[in-house]
Amino acid sequence: MSEMNRRTFLNIATGAWVASSLSPSMAATEAPPIRIGLIGCGWYGGVLLDAAYKVGGVDVVALCDVDQRHLRETAEKLRQRQGREPRTFRLYHEMLAAGGLDAVFIATPPHWHALQFLAALDAGVHIYCEKPLAYDIRECQAMVRAARAHPDRVIQIGFQRRQSLAIREVRERVQRGELGQVRQVDVQIHYTAGLLDSTPQDPPPELDWELWCGPAPKLPYSPQIGHKSWRLEKEYGHGHLVDWGIHWIDAVRWILNADVPRRVEASGTLVRYAGRITTPDTMTAVFDFDGIPVVWRHRLWGAQEYDPDTSNGVFLYGDEGTIFVTDHRWVFIPRGRPAERKTTEAKADLARLHMEDFLAAVRQRRAASGTVSDAYRSTAAVKLAMMSLDLGRPVKWDSKTHEAVGDEAIRLMKRDYRAPYVHPWRGEPWAGDTAERRDERAWRVS
Ligand SMILES: NC(=O)c1ccc[n+]([C@@H]2O[C@H](COP(=O)([O-])OP(=O)(O)OC[C@H]3O[C@@H](n4cnc5c(N)ncnc54)[C@H](O)[C@@H]3O)[C@@H](O)[C@H]2O)c1
Repeated sequence: MSEMNRRTFLNIATGAWVASSLSPSMAATEAPPIRIGLIGCGWYGGVLLDAAYKVGGVDVVALCDVDQRHLRETAEKLRQRQGREPRTFRLYHEMLAAGGLDAVFIATPPHWHALQFLAALDAGVHIYCEKPLAYDIRECQAMVRAARAHPDRVIQIGFQRRQSLAIREVRERVQRGELGQVRQVDVQIHYTAGLLDSTPQDPPPELDWELWCGPAPKLPYSPQIGHKSWRLEKEYGHGHLVDWGIHWIDAVRWILNADVPRRVEASGTLVRYAGRITTPDTMTAVFDFDGIPVVWRHRLWGAQEYDPDTSNGVFLYGDEGTIFVTDHRWVFIPRGRPAERKTTEAKADLARLHMEDFLAAVRQRRAASGTVSDAYRSTAAVKLAMMSLDLGRPVKWDSKTHEAVGDEAIRLMKRDYRAPYVHPWRGEPWAGDTAERRDERAWRVS
């Protein structure tokens, strides 16, 4: 297969061909606008709206948030941008029931994703949902099942690094065998966390904290577990690996064509921020992806790294060379020829490309590139690491039944919902999805 054809095929296999070949103006001018409702008007909800406007061809007609200030400020920004204000809602099911939507963006904290995603499927709209797919593995399984029952619905999950030219190029090279056998992968994101006040206090008057907590345990409010900072709280974001590291675990799964790891062993602790956050500020997890050890490390404190250029990214060690890859750059070092070390810069607006792919998929009624099956697997991978931390021992995964091995681990796949919310997993055994067939095809042809 020629280089050109290979590239075209891989792009088709990842669902991005149409997005990259359609100019935004074509998408924007020739069809009626896609009517969008946004659930969760915080930081990333704003990023998604910006991305959608850059692509064009959208009309943001409804907003939902449990914080009246976020709702008001986002509505005002939209009024300036599109000349009229969207309808605003405190309750997402009221927004969905009001109708008039083609698609929703879900940009709430992860403990809300499952209920909102399932309600959106019921309401008949297309979905762009942020990562991680949900808070627990059973929620994810219920979401895969429901998505499978609605094959006409376009679903994009927010792993925008799947649009990275650097990661794509590395994936092609690894699959072509340019690294030889990949023997080990190291993944890391080190940064210095800026923590907020963790003293329990009244929530801001405009924030409905009861509703914000929703199906998750209701902890006393503090700024450190509120807007944007919830990521390092065990009951909400579940820590740095689940929140940010998941992007690289997803990318590694994609590069290696790997499924859920068959074994994960994690260790971690609070060496610096004990009493202020509830997930490790220092952590190592070793994932066994079909015999390839993938080692995750993070440290949220201390001075800048010895080599700051590699503090966020993935190292792939193969028999024929080493690759380091991050969002917009990758470095190749051939074995035995260090002087031929080569750095390639590959800049792209990942948020915009991922949105462009979603909106094109909605117009063309085709699959988007960030599938729910892949998001489930990447979410399961990082959750197994957190389960290993809780249990203080390795956790194994049965790839046939999609169950963790052992009663204690199986119990941790699901967190009980807070009343009156009802967990969407009803005890159904894993019934499969469509991911295996798609991956197999991409692998065979390349
Ligand atoms: N893809 C990426 O690179 C990326 C980057 C950042 C965040 N994210 C994801 O985006 C999501 C939001 O993260 P964020 O950083 O914007 O958080 P945030 O705290 O800034 O915003 C979340 C918003 O959701 C609102 N909310 C909470 N419960 C709600 C409910 N039941 N109904 C309606 N609104 C509700 C909050 O009030 C808040 O305005 C998370 O899933 C996060 O993982 C993805």
